[in-house]
Amino acid sequence: MSDAVQTQSNSKFKKRVFSGIQPSGGLTLGNYLGAVKRFVQLQNEEIETIYCMVDLHAITVWQDPEQLKNNTRQLAAFYIASGLNPEKSILFNQSAVSEHAELGWIFNCVARMGWMKRMTQFKDKAGKNAENASLGLFGYPALMAADILAYHATHVPVGDDQKQHLELTRDIAAKFNHDFGVDFFPMIDPVIGGPAARVMSLRDGSKKMSKSDPSDQSRINMSDDADSIAQKFRKAKTDPDALPSEELGLENRPEAKNLVAIYAALGDQSVEQVLSDVGGKQFSEFKPMLVERAVETLSPITGEMNRLMQDVSEIDRVLKDGADKARAIAAPILQRTYDIVGLLRPERS
Ligand code: TYM
Repeated sequence: MSDAVQTQSNSKFKKRVFSGIQPSGGLTLGNYLGAVKRFVQLQNEEIETIYCMVDLHAITVWQDPEQLKNNTRQLAAFYIASGLNPEKSILFNQSAVSEHAELGWIFNCVARMGWMKRMTQFKDKAGKNAENASLGLFGYPALMAADILAYHATHVPVGDDQKQHLELTRDIAAKFNHDFGVDFFPMIDPVIGGPAARVMSLRDGSKKMSKSDPSDQSRINMSDDADSIAQKFRKAKTDPDALPSEELGLENRPEAKNLVAIYAALGDQSVEQVLSDVGGKQFSEFKPMLVERAVETLSPITGEMNRLMQDVSEIDRVLKDGADKARAIAAPILQRTYDIVGLLRPERS
């Protein structure tokens, strides 16, 4: 990451990366390319990296308790199998570090109803039945701000769908700093970009690839085997034209654009580089190339996830260790926050 992304406002803060994924089951290629693959890249740039399984966010909608435990461990296995190293990155689940919930409450009192009402993800998730949504789902972005700011994190890698939540995180930090006359919370920088910031459905290039899509054909799951991956890409919607040799030629061709973007992101290439190689090819030729690249990348991850899940005690050990390290950073920041707000709390020994 270049120094150019460091903003003036957070220049007094040490570069620190934080991000999280909900352990609500059904990990997809979108989670991998839009988030975890980039988590690994940042880890390998030797920046301090903290990655969380946000189980408190998951329960904003109903989760079966046994499934939730299993999904949390599975997500930890996904992180590690994708290349996150518990010796280099702090890996833990959110509920194990109570500072998240405590700071989340303070931010509930900073964020405004009007801000929350504008969140498109709440509108999408609550659907027509918003009156019946949990209060937690409504307050979700304030807890997300707490996740990040409890560590004074400065950079947050996410997919494009989280952009609005990160803008809200900046608003909360700015309002807190302003209301209390401090320069305490950093103005975070979203790290969004690259060809896979928004991986689209394989059935409809105008919709995001999502675990909640009723059609399993619309997505590649991290649990899919090589045959399913091949079959899903083979059946993926396309158009009859050959691939263009320049990016401009993908305009108004959302499905073609998506497949090229996936291919590029899997191979750490830009869309332009890919098109200079494959421009002129028909999908009948390009799709097998895509399958090969996808299987080559994803199969070892799936295999390693399954292997790691054989020994959950080792996963639990990693999570406990991660939670201890995370708490050591968040606790003094929370203590100082309480003091700024005027909440009396004896220093903990
Ligand atoms: P979640 O669990 O929905 O998704 C996890 C990450 O995967 C990315 N993603 C995608 N990226 C590209 N294309 C897609 N089709 C796609 N689908 C999912 C998401 O953008 C996200 O980066 N609110 C967050 C979790 C969260 C969090 C945080 C993130 C809680 N606290 C603090 C960062 C910092 C969420 O629901 O992600």
